[in-house]
Amino acid sequence: MIPLVSDTAQQDDGPVTPAHPKRYDMPAPAPLGDLELFTAGHPFDAYREMRDSAPVCWVEENYPSFQGPGFWAVTRYDDVRTVDLDPETFSSQRGGINISYGAPETRHPQLFAAAMNTMICLDQPFHLPLRREHMPFFTPAYTRSLQQAVETKIDALLDSLEDEGPTVDMVKQFSAELPLYTLCEMLGVAEADRPRLIEWMHHLELAQDTIARKNLGEIDPAQIMAFMTAMNELFEYGREVLYERRKAPREDLLSAIANAAVEGEPLSEPFLDGSWLLIVFAGNDTTRNTLSGTMKLLTEFPDQKQKLIDDPDLTPGMVDEAIRMVSPVIYMRRTATRDAEIAEQKIAEGEKVVMYYGAANRDSSVFADPDRFDIERANAKDHIAFGMGPHVCLGKRTANMQLDAAYRKILARFPNITWTGDIDIAPNNFVHAISRLEVSLNG
Ligand code: HEM
Repeated sequence: MIPLVSDTAQQDDGPVTPAHPKRYDMPAPAPLGDLELFTAGHPFDAYREMRDSAPVCWVEENYPSFQGPGFWAVTRYDDVRTVDLDPETFSSQRGGINISYGAPETRHPQLFAAAMNTMICLDQPFHLPLRREHMPFFTPAYTRSLQQAVETKIDALLDSLEDEGPTVDMVKQFSAELPLYTLCEMLGVAEADRPRLIEWMHHLELAQDTIARKNLGEIDPAQIMAFMTAMNELFEYGREVLYERRKAPREDLLSAIANAAVEGEPLSEPFLDGSWLLIVFAGNDTTRNTLSGTMKLLTEFPDQKQKLIDDPDLTPGMVDEAIRMVSPVIYMRRTATRDAEIAEQKIAEGEKVVMYYGAANRDSSVFADPDRFDIERANAKDHIAFGMGPHVCLGKRTANMQLDAAYRKILARFPNITWTGDIDIAPNNFVHAISRLEVSLNG
C-alpha cells in the first residue's frame, strides 16, 4: 500500500534559522515565498543577484498570512541539476513539492490531501510504478496520434479569435482552450464537461491567494464559497469518472489511472483524487502559460518573430527557447533526507531546498546573453523548465507538440499579431500564471 503522504509529510514546524552557518551572507533580495511578488512575473533581477552572490540563499518565510521555518533557494543551473538528480538526498515525499502547505487549520482538507497523495510527491519505491501506468499516453507514437486533432482544434480556435477580434484576450480565447482540449482527448473527458475544467483551473491558480486572504480575513465570503464549491465539484467529478472507468475501462488515460496498481494493489481514494488533481493541473496550466508567454516574447523581440515567419522550420527551436525563457513552473521543492552540501553551503537534514527553474534557465554560464530571446540558440533544448531526474515532466512531448503546432498556425494566419502590453499575472509563487494577455490580431 502506498503510504499517505498527507499523513506522513514533515510539517512546517522546524527551526526559523538554518542549522548551519550561511556560507553566503546576503539576505534574500526578494521575498520569494510571497505571492504578490510574482504578479510582476519572475523576479529575474533577484535571481541574478542570488546566482552571482548567494547561489544557495536562505529565504525567510515571514509573511502576514504565513510564518514558516524558511528555505534554501537554489538558483544556478548546475546546482538545480544536482538537486533534481539526487532524489535520495533531496526527497519529494518527505515534505511535498510546494514550499509550504500552510498551517493545518488553514488548509482546504481535500485539496491538501490530493496535492500530497500524488506521484509527484512520491519517492521510490512507489513513484516509478505509478509513473509507469501513465507512460503509454506520453510516448512519441501516442503524441503523434493526437496531432491531427490538435491541429483541427487550433484552426477552430483561430476562427473564433478572428470573429472576436481585432483585439482579444488570448488566454480566454486560445491559451486556456487548447491544452484543455488536448488533455481531455487524452483523458477521455466528455465534450460537454470540458468548460467546467476551465472554471476549476481558474480557482486552482488562485488557490494559494484565496487561502492566504481567507486567513487574513481579507476576502469576501462569497469568493470563499465559490472556491470551496469549485474544489468540491472538481473532486466529485474526478471520483465519478474514475470509478466509472474502473467498472468499464476504455482506451484512455482516465482508465489507466483508475486501474493503476502499485505493488499489486489498486490506488486508494486519496491517490485517485491526487492523480486526478495532478494531471488536470500539470497538463493544463503549464502549456497555457507558455502559449501566452511565447506571444509576449515574440512581440518583445520582433526580429525573432520575423525570422520565424520567414522560416517556420525554426519553430521547434523557438519552442525550446520560449519554454526556457517563460519557465512556467517557478520552482519545485525538495526536503533534505540527510546532511548535504550544495555550492559550499551545508544543508541540514529536514531543511527545505527549493529549485528555481526560471533562475537556472537564465544562468549565463550555460545560456549566453540569457535574457535575449534567440530562436536559433544552439543549446536552448538544454533548458531545465521540465525538471530532470525521476520526476522529469511526463508531458513534455505533449507540450512541445501543442506549442509547435499552435505557433506555426498562429503566425501563418495572423503574421501581424501583437501583444498590446496588457497583461494580468495571478498571485501565485509556484506557477507563472498569466490570467489575461491582450493581443491585437492586426498589429
Ligand atoms: C511547457 C509545459 C510544461 C512544463 C514547463 C512542465 C514542467 C514540469 C516540471 C518542472 C515537473 C516536475 C519535474 C521535477 O520535479 O523534476 C513536471 C512534472 C510533471 N508534468 Fe509537466 N510540464 C509541462 C507540461 C505538462 C503537460 C502537458 C502534462 C500532461 C499532459 C504534464 C504532466 C506532468 C506530470 C504528470 C508530472 C509529474 C511527473 C512525475 O512526478 O513523475 N506536464 N512538469
